Amino acid sequence: MPVPVLTIDGPSGSGKGTISRAVARRAGWHLLDSGALYRLVALAGLEHKLERDDVAGHVRVAAAMDVRFGTDPQTESVLLEGREVSHTIRSEQMGQEASRVAAWPAVRAALLGRQRAFAEPPGLVADGRDMGTVVFPQAELKIFLTASAEERARRRYNQLKQKGSSASLSALSREIAERDARDSSRAVAPLVPAADAERIDSTDLAIEAVIERVIELGRRRALWA
Ligand code: C5P
Repeated sequence: MPVPVLTIDGPSGSGKGTISRAVARRAGWHLLDSGALYRLVALAGLEHKLERDDVAGHVRVAAAMDVRFGTDPQTESVLLEGREVSHTIRSEQMGQEASRVAAWPAVRAALLGRQRAFAEPPGLVADGRDMGTVVFPQAELKIFLTASAEERARRRYNQLKQKGSSASLSALSREIAERDARDSSRAVAPLVPAADAERIDSTDLAIEAVIERVIELGRRRALWA
């Protein structure tokens, strides 16, 4: 039996991470945070002191790195080569680095099998930019989540503050705009909605309302009761 997949794609700050985690928990499904994989490639590249333009080196790292995601939703632990790196990879700087290595087709190809392996019974919620278009084109339900650029910068700001990181709202707005432009304009797997994606604009919606809408869409497709 093929494993059912729900994909949630969208730009940074659209609420994908929070919504994906909550829906996965409600459904009792597995979760793939594909952005974390790109962040890990960027971090591993820095740790291996790779040149910034060493594509082959980053491909090797993407294929070989030992990654484990903790299952405790409280800690959201991410282990790289056995070391806890969840805090390190969440910085805005690592987001920028991730977006840079993510533009290389060979790095994306190296992560493809790793991402698909997350699809295990009873089901998978996959969070990213190209989950519905490239990694799981056969997904039962595809969501494209957006929000205005101002609202996304504000959310990111609050998120970083909450984690104890310092941030400036204007710098974040600029960085998010830069990252959006790079993610949307790259040649391979750009950030675009799949033709069959359900679009949800979360600018004026509370998190709970978005979760309910996704749960309802899943119910209509008989993904859960
Ligand atoms: O979602 P997150 O902010 O963690 O993603 C970090 C970066 O990784 C994104 O800006 C994007 O460039 C890249 N990414 C990607 N494809 C995905 C997930 C993330 O290119 N499926």
